[in-house]
Parts: sequence; C-alpha cells; structure tokens
Amino acid sequence: MDIQTALSQIPTATTEALEALRIQYLGQKGELTAQMQALGKLEPEARKARGAELNVIKTQLTEAISARKTELETEALNAKLAEEAIDVTLPADPTYNGRIHPITVAMEDIASALRSLGFTHAYGPEIETDDYNFTKLNLPAHHPARQDQDTFYLNPFKAEATERYLLRTQTSNVQIRTLETVKPPFRVMGIGRVYRRDYDLTHTPQFHQVEGMMVEAGTNFSHMRGVLDEFLRLYFGKPLKTRMRPHYFPFTEPSAEMDMECLFCKGTGCRVCKQTGWLEVLGCGMVHRNVLAVGGLDVAEHQGFAFGAGVERLAMLKYGVPDLRLFYESHAAFLRQFGKPAISAA
Ligand code: DAH
Repeated sequence: MDIQTALSQIPTATTEALEALRIQYLGQKGELTAQMQALGKLEPEARKARGAELNVIKTQLTEAISARKTELETEALNAKLAEEAIDVTLPADPTYNGRIHPITVAMEDIASALRSLGFTHAYGPEIETDDYNFTKLNLPAHHPARQDQDTFYLNPFKAEATERYLLRTQTSNVQIRTLETVKPPFRVMGIGRVYRRDYDLTHTPQFHQVEGMMVEAGTNFSHMRGVLDEFLRLYFGKPLKTRMRPHYFPFTEPSAEMDMECLFCKGTGCRVCKQTGWLEVLGCGMVHRNVLAVGGLDVAEHQGFAFGAGVERLAMLKYGVPDLRLFYESHAAFLRQFGKPAISAA
C-alpha cells in the first residue's frame, strides 16, 4: 500500500479518479480496510502501534479525499454559475400598448375633416337591396355599369322576386337612404364597409368608403370643388394642388374624378404616381336629376353634389403604404407604426 502516492494523486484527481481512489483504499475491500481487518492477528502490543498508525493514515486519506471533493464541487458550482450568469445590464423586453388600427384612425380623421365642413353622419346598411345599391342610383337592371362592381348577391335572382339582397358595393346607398328621409338643405357623410368580389395588390373583398352629399338650393360645381379641396387639405394636413377630369358615374351628371398633386414627389413624377405627378383620390359630380327625383325633390329647385372615395386609398397615400393587404395581415410591427395609442398615458 503506497500511501504517499495516493496522497499525491488526490489533490489533482478528477471526480471519477477520486472515487476510484476512495474505493481502492477505504472501500469495503480496500487496501486500508484489509489492513485494519488484519490487525486482529497481531500481538496486542504490535496491534496497538499498528492500529494507531493505520488510524493516522485513514484520517489523512479521508481528509484529503474530502478536501478534494469539496474543491471539485466548488469548481463545478462556479462553472455552472458562470454558464448561467444573467447580464442584468441587458435591456428588458419591450412592452407595447395596443393602438387604434390605421384604417379606424383614417375614418376618424376623414369624419373630423368633413364634420368641420358641416357634414353630419348618415347611415346605410351593409346588407342592402339591389334597389338601394343600384336601381335608385340610376343603375337600372342590365345597366352595363353594374358590371364594374362585382357584387356578392345574397339570394338568387328570380324575375318575380320583389327584393334581391346583396352586400353593398358602395356607400352611395347612403345617398338614397338620406334623400328619402331627410329634407334639404343637408350635408351628410356615410363612412363604412363595402364589398366586392376582388382580391389582388390593390383590392380586398371588403374595404371602406366615404360618401359625401350636399343638397342645398343654388349649389354648383364650384362649391363642390371648394369643399373637396378643403376636405383634402384638412385630411392630408397641407394645401394640395388638385385637378378634375371628366368621368362617368350613373348617379351624377356631370361627373368628374379628382386628382391631387402627388404627395411623394410634389408633382415632379415618381413611382407612386407613375411619373404623372398626380394621384387619383375620389369620384364626384352633381347629383343626377333621376336620383333627386327618387327623393321626391323638384329638380328645378334643388341641386346638390356627391362624392365618394376609398378609405384605404386615402390612408395608403397619407402613410405611404405600398400594399393594401398590409392593413389586414395583423403584423404588429407594421401596425405599431401608425395610428393613435388606444389609451393615453395618465
Ligand atoms: N360609388 C362610386 C364608386 O364606388 C364612387 C362615387 C363616385 C361616389 C361619384 C359618389 C360620386 O358619390 O358622386 O366607385
């Protein structure tokens, strides 16, 4: 039994080697254990001396092994602590408050601009009859312009059916609903959802429109131009050059489309305005006599104008969003850039 070798090996032993050494010397069949057991065969005098000697050796081995064991445990603990250390100086995960959706913000901003021009809210249902969505707007059955608005019908067409229901394709139904119930003079707006069977980069099957209508004796095309210029100035927050191009809508005559100076290149030509310097923003016109007649109004006495625009389009232009679908894909990182906080910090 070479105690000196054992004692020199212990301080550098690995956990496994240390256990092997313990078994080799102190285990049930260990070398020291065997010698202890052999004591009984010695003479009393010799036994006493040898016994004391072996006890000293046992104490030395036990203490050395225990010291090394503590050392190894400390090393293991330190290694684990180093590995699991948390850098408390790192920034915490950010938290975000919910925000109002940009389309909702756009609708609020549009309504607030029109309110300041004297327009009040009017209502039209999203599930509408063919009559209010088309016929009474001077779009009789088989009118070719019906095909411009690919419609979701809710019940099949039957010649004898009195009502045919559909999802409104335009907020223009608000015009008829108002003419039938409100006496002029009035200025109304209708903002809400409309539906068309369309889906691509610039179309979604459900989107939003804003409709405006003003009926007041003596109203003319110049009044319309002035109101629309002012509306765009209020919504976009700065004066913008506008122009009107002749156009066709069944429910207005004469009709026009309105363009405004491109917000991105200030009219010099860029990708957004397809190098024209102009952006198309809305449709408008003087309310058609057939439409006024639906409201029982004498066309010799009453004039008015109406206009309609896409809310998503106005929002895309204001915020510089290139793809309509981004508004509906619910990516928090996208939505977080726009809109107003849902609750203001106290
Ligand atoms: N309803 C039309 C559309 O969806 C937009 C429109 C054009 C509305 C001219 C109007 C108007 O009130 O006068 O394309």
